[in-house]
Amino acid sequence: MGRDVIIACDFDSAEKTLAFLDQFKGRKPFVKIGMELYYAEGPAIVKALKERGHKIFLDLKLHDIPNTVKKSMAVLSRLDVDMTNLHAAGTINMMKAAIEGLTREDGTRPLLIAVTQLTSTDQESMTKDLLIEKPIDEVVMHYAKNAKEAGLDGVVCSPLEAEKVHTSCGKEFLTVTPGVRFADGDIGDQKRVMTPAQAKAIGSDYIVVGRPITAAQDPVAAYERCLKEFVGD
Ligand code: C5P
Repeated sequence: MGRDVIIACDFDSAEKTLAFLDQFKGRKPFVKIGMELYYAEGPAIVKALKERGHKIFLDLKLHDIPNTVKKSMAVLSRLDVDMTNLHAAGTINMMKAAIEGLTREDGTRPLLIAVTQLTSTDQESMTKDLLIEKPIDEVVMHYAKNAKEAGLDGVVCSPLEAEKVHTSCGKEFLTVTPGVRFADGDIGDQKRVMTPAQAKAIGSDYIVVGRPITAAQDPVAAYERCLKEFVGD
């Protein structure tokens, strides 16, 4: 899979999700199913979107003891998603167990991506709440290296971290970046944002775009614009 735009389908029902995707007619964008939609609709929504021909990033951010994560990943793998994720904070052992669980009998598996530190966590909350005293940048890069060591394919990170992740972990190590906004669009609650063109320039592999597409007057046009800026030459 090459560079692509992933639409965050942050809806609370299958009905809303399918109505949104119906607007795309023959096109089959890569979509992200997060906790809200998955908890509302369960595996059925994954199967429905897969049957419609979409690639799927199942964003459930697993974090538990290695054995539980391994068994849960085996279940997610059977759903035939294209990408899923976990928290790197679960340790290298948990990440290795996840890869084992995710790998099918024929040796194939969905891409597995780690969340390093959530972008909602800042230096102050990390130091005060989690008693992690190192600079947040260092922690993010350390977690990214742990993910690589465990055999994962990449990390979810802010577009501003993508370049550094590629420098420390190699160009093939994937960076999946949310926090994307059009130059003339609303920032909303995202703090550190980049345009699709900037995300391309710094080498993001995938951008995850929610409201700039889902809340646009013309979502298909907004998606096309993202693709043109991020993938187009
Ligand atoms: O609507 P918006 O473009 O801000 O959506 C971004 C998507 O990426 C949401 O689904 C959000 O949960 C997700 N995300 C994020 N920041 C992270 C991890 C995931 O915005 N650090």
